Amino acid sequence: QTAAKARPNLYLVGFMGTGKSTVGRALARRLGMQHLDSDRAIEEAQGRPIPDIFAAEGEAYFRKLEYDFVHSGHPESNCVVSCGGGLVTAPGMIEELKRRGLVACLFASPETILSRTKGNANRPLLNVADPAQRIADLLAEREPIYLQAGACFYTDHQPMVEIARHIERYYFR
Ligand code: S3P
Repeated sequence: QTAAKARPNLYLVGFMGTGKSTVGRALARRLGMQHLDSDRAIEEAQGRPIPDIFAAEGEAYFRKLEYDFVHSGHPESNCVVSCGGGLVTAPGMIEELKRRGLVACLFASPETILSRTKGNANRPLLNVADPAQRIADLLAEREPIYLQAGACFYTDHQPMVEIARHIERYYFR
């Protein structure tokens, strides 16, 4: 029997709380690909959780860790990669992901994002007095970048497994 053909990596980008991790896991299972999560990979390599990295070294340092993950921290094919929400904010990063594979963006309304991320202390950028305002500000800043993905999928009203099916159909059939 011949080895299965290599599939290009599929990068899931989008804001916090849009479902990148859940959809990524489901997609990888459906497609028989490896699932990677940039946040988890960085936490494992650093031996500490993201809030600790932000608190001790600052956001710019975390962005550098994300850059290193993309450029030298993961396999070149057969992976579904759930990317941290701010990973694509580095200059040239979305272009780099598109060179390396397929890029799908997950979207959700600010209200959905707020309800999905509420009370979760793992996201230092939303650990502020007015997370709704912070979400609005960051979304406005990042939307033009997210929209450069190959395709966008809205996750407000469907179960994440449905979203995974849509993405699979769009890219692999
Ligand atoms: C961030 C998103 C987080 C994590 C970090 C910063 C961001 O990942 O990388 O807290 O800047 O949007 P998720 O999108 O998986 O929550």
